Amino acid sequence: MARLLDPVLENDWHAVYLSSELKEKPIGITLLGERVALFRNSRGVQALRDLCIHRGAMLSKGWMKGDEIVCPYHGWRYDGEGRCVCIPAQPAGERIPPRTRTIAYACEEKYGFVWICLGEPAGSVPHFEEFADPAFRPLPCGPYKVKAAGTRVIENFTDFAHLMFVHQDLLGHPDYAELPDIQVVKEQDRIYIENIPIFQPVAHSGSDKQDGTTYVYRKEVFRPLSGRLSKTDPGNGQTLWILLTVSPVAEDECLVFMLVSRNYGFDADDANFIRFQDIVFDQDAQVIESQKPELLPLDLQAELNHRVDVFSVAYRRWLKELGVTVGTV
Ligand code: FES
Ligand code: CO
Repeated sequence: MARLLDPVLENDWHAVYLSSELKEKPIGITLLGERVALFRNSRGVQALRDLCIHRGAMLSKGWMKGDEIVCPYHGWRYDGEGRCVCIPAQPAGERIPPRTRTIAYACEEKYGFVWICLGEPAGSVPHFEEFADPAFRPLPCGPYKVKAAGTRVIENFTDFAHLMFVHQDLLGHPDYAELPDIQVVKEQDRIYIENIPIFQPVAHSGSDKQDGTTYVYRKEVFRPLSGRLSKTDPGNGQTLWILLTVSPVAEDECLVFMLVSRNYGFDADDANFIRFQDIVFDQDAQVIESQKPELLPLDLQAELNHRVDVFSVAYRRWLKELGVTVGTV
């Protein structure tokens, strides 16, 4: 797969792996068509181009020796900065030229994810204050592999009208599909909507007026492939926050990471919250993978935009303004 050239996404941070899953063995991931080897050493998580400069073997198929990653083909060893520090076949003590190195990428661990940037980081890893707030309990969910453009996943995140259909009986019901007027606020580095009431009936069972809760949503997209939402029950203040960040593997393939954070139900089983998210996201993925064209059309005439699609239209406009090319058409 060729490297996808997109200066905006290249200089952005992307969550690529669950911290808890990166242990003593190096692993390989793909971001924007580029293969990257991740490993841990005493200085933290490191990310190198997953290509040995000697004969192009994948470093991620190798192993660790101390702080260095060993290429499985002829045993060349690289440090976390990408310098080749040992060539076993050459006489000990012989110098290794400084240009004998591979590319090291910016890499950080935050919120339970490993984040990398292939280019020059344009900013820092997104800030998510709920993660540090002791009133909330954050849970990493996913990653979910989706055979679709990451932009389609974020657009689905901006969409309310699907809750009553794709997630019926979990997050809404077709009998309560009418949406209020939605005003999008655009700031320099984000677009958001707030105070959106969505009625969620309890175990809907007919046409009678149902019991249920009207939740208040806020949704924000703050990077081309990252957004977050809050869903609050105004009756008791119970709030669920979701950070959603999508890693673009290829033009039409992505990996979705979520951080689900709640300020209630601390004695409930965390596994149930993760399972619920797995089910909800699987419902989204089924539809997203079916969409044509696979890439998100930024030409607003290309699909039919309804008044209720105002947030997704704002997202498309923002991507165009930023100049995001991967996952768009
Ligand atoms: Fe990596 Fe030869 S290909 S050491
Ligand atoms: Co959905």
